[in-house]
Amino acid sequence: MIDLSNFVGLNIKFNSSQYRLIFDKDPASKEPAVRTIDQMKEVLKDQAISTPKELYFMYRDVYCLKDNDVIREHKLRFDITVIKPDRLGREFMKTAGHYHPKSYPELYEVVYGEALCLQQRPDENDSKKIKEVIVVKAKQGQKIICLPHFGHILINISDKPLITSNWVSSEFSSEYELYKMARGAAYYAFDDQENITWQKNEFFPELPKITFFTPNDKIPEFGLKTGTPMYSLINDLNKLDFLNNPERYRYEKAFKK
Ligand SMILES: [Fe+2]
Repeated sequence: MIDLSNFVGLNIKFNSSQYRLIFDKDPASKEPAVRTIDQMKEVLKDQAISTPKELYFMYRDVYCLKDNDVIREHKLRFDITVIKPDRLGREFMKTAGHYHPKSYPELYEVVYGEALCLQQRPDENDSKKIKEVIVVKAKQGQKIICLPHFGHILINISDKPLITSNWVSSEFSSEYELYKMARGAAYYAFDDQENITWQKNEFFPELPKITFFTPNDKIPEFGLKTGTPMYSLINDLNKLDFLNNPERYRYEKAFKK
C-alpha cells in the first residue's frame, strides 16, 4: 500500500497490486471508470492485440465534503487517473486521447510515477493538418498544462504505475472522435528496447517535428509549484480561472526546453 496523501493533497492510498485507490471516509470512496482494450482499439497502431484487458482507471470528481460548494462555484472538477505500466503491442501504455471543445485547457500533476504528455494542435479549419506537436515529460510533483487548442494523451513509459491528478472545467465534455478517426495521436511512442521511438501516424499527410519540454517548477500566476499538491489550491481557486477563461491568460511560462 502506497500513501499518496502528500502528493495528491487528499487522504488517499494506492493498492499497487490491484491498481486501485483506497479512500478514507472523506473523500468518500469512489468506483473508477475503467478503460478497456475494446474501447481503445480504434486508437492503437496494432488493432489485433487483446491484452491487457484493462488499461487505466479514472476517478472523476474527487473532493472533500467541505470543499464541494467552492468547487461547484468555480465550475471545476478534480480527477485522479491510474495508468498501468504495460505495453500495447509495441506501443507504450497510453490514454485514448481527446480534444476539448472551444479552447478549454487542463491542468495535470504527476502524483506517482513519470508521465509523457503528447499534445497536438490542429489547424482550426482542417483537423487533418497538425500545426504543432509537443511532448512534456514530468516527474512526481510536476504540473503539466494542457494548452488551449491542443488535444492530449498521456503515455506511461516507466515500469511503475502512473498516477495523475487533474483540475479541469466542469463545463464541457471531451471529444474523442478525431483521435479515433486518426487511429491515435500524431505520433506513436514505441518501446524500442526500453528507448522511445516516435513513429509518425500516417493518417496525417504532414507532421511537424516534436518539440520536447519539461514543466517549469513555478508558475506563480496559476499558484503552481513543483512538490506542492495542487488540490491545496482549494483555498485559492481563483488561480484556476484560466481553466474556464483561457483567453484571458498567457501560457509561455508553462514549460521549459
Ligand atoms: Fe482532457
